[in-house]
Amino acid sequence: MKVLVLYTTVDGNTEAVSNAIAEKLDADISKIVRVSKIRGFGIDKLRSWFEVKFNRRPGIFPFKHDPRDYDLIFIGTPVWYDSYNPVFNTLFEVIKIYDRKIALFSTGETDSQKALDKFSKKLQDSIILGRYHCIEPIWEDNDEDTKRILDEAAEWAKGVADEAEKMIEQEEFERRKTIYKF
Ligand SMILES: Cc1cc2nc3c(=O)[nH]c(=O)nc-3n(C[C@H](O)[C@H](O)[C@H](O)COP(=O)(O)O)c2cc1C
Repeated sequence: MKVLVLYTTVDGNTEAVSNAIAEKLDADISKIVRVSKIRGFGIDKLRSWFEVKFNRRPGIFPFKHDPRDYDLIFIGTPVWYDSYNPVFNTLFEVIKIYDRKIALFSTGETDSQKALDKFSKKLQDSIILGRYHCIEPIWEDNDEDTKRILDEAAEWAKGVADEAEKMIEQEEFERRKTIYKF
């Protein structure tokens, strides 16, 4: 089964989770990088609020892997103003992701599921096998806590991948049955 982790990050939290998942599943990984850089503080806070509020589509660089080539796609975002990062507005415009097995994850300052809710709505034409949110892993006070959060995320991803694998086997079984029938 081919697995891709597709994510964006500004400060590295979502990246840490993405790396943990990709490592656990031996998956390919692609980072969505903005053309015009944005920071998580100062005047850029206003810029980012504006982008979220008005569903802007900031330019993004081409990335390494085409999600449509994969059986299972993990999509990860930092929570921005109770939503997903606006680079995904651009991505969803450029590449239509539908009828795919996907799993969504986010990192945030709080326990809010709102970005995942919006992601789920946006990707409702796909099969959403799981959702996961965690709080800023890399800013934990000690390395053990960071590791625990990343391990838990990776375990969640493993569960999702196992389920996807079973579904694919079942689909293949049904497909063969159909072939033999006719
Ligand atoms: C512009 C901006 C808006 C944010 N809005 C929220 C929010 O609404 N809710 C929340 O829990 N965290 C919010 N955060 C915190 C980030 O979601 C959190 O730090 C996340 O882990 C950052 O991910 P990253 O390190 O991968 O960029 C915001 C951060 C930024 C920079």
